[in-house]
Amino acid sequence: MLNIIKVNNEQQFNETGASLIASLLQINPRANLGLATGSTPVGVYKRLIELYNEGLVSFKDAQSYNLDEYIGLPDNHPESYRRFMNEKLFDHIDIQKQNTHVPSGNAENLEQAADDYNRLLEDAGLIDLQLLGLGHNGHIGFNEPAEELQGPTHIVTLDEVTRNANARFFNSIDEVPTHAITMGIGSILKAKQILLMAKGADKAEILATALKGPLTTKCPASFLQTHANVVVLVDQAAGRLL
Ligand code: GLP
Repeated sequence: MLNIIKVNNEQQFNETGASLIASLLQINPRANLGLATGSTPVGVYKRLIELYNEGLVSFKDAQSYNLDEYIGLPDNHPESYRRFMNEKLFDHIDIQKQNTHVPSGNAENLEQAADDYNRLLEDAGLIDLQLLGLGHNGHIGFNEPAEELQGPTHIVTLDEVTRNANARFFNSIDEVPTHAITMGIGSILKAKQILLMAKGADKAEILATALKGPLTTKCPASFLQTHANVVVLVDQAAGRLL
């Protein structure tokens, strides 16, 4: 079931996303949070830091599991998702660093790293709330459009659409990694609740295709239609066609 929340501005967007996460932690301080990178959740993380500073939320007993990571970037590379999460959220709240999990994109044996992440997710029990952004090609995490999708965490070759979209964060397209490690669609859909976030006119079409079009591996986000509890947080521009 999809619950669509359409907000009027950036501030409402961030407030709504942050309140959903904060209220979960107030009810269940030991919650398993599924976290996402990309530009969309940055303001939500900022607002969460404010709520933490105001004493309204604590992460000290929470666990976090990130969706994905580039392959081949050192952890301290400005664009690694581990560094992104540290800088945008973890360094500013009371979460225990050992409770923050990001798939390893540097392991010598990447298949093993994917298996290890799957085991970690299985041992964790269910993710209480999984945050998601949406790629311009309908990807979630780094599950790219393909003939077949994979359920568990796995290694993917990045789509050229994705590499081009993310090139804005690197000096040039050549520096954008060609591969990534990502939770699979199966892992994502196991979450108790999903918060899909999209902002801006450039996401309107793909969002409508994902949520109202057929279920297809050509648009991985379309499988969110099968989940029992998805909150879709959009601004007016991204939600125009819903
Ligand atoms: C990236 C990430 C996704 C993210 C998406 C959208 O490639 N792997 O998790 O949701 O692209 O990013 P943005 O929010 O910047 O549009």
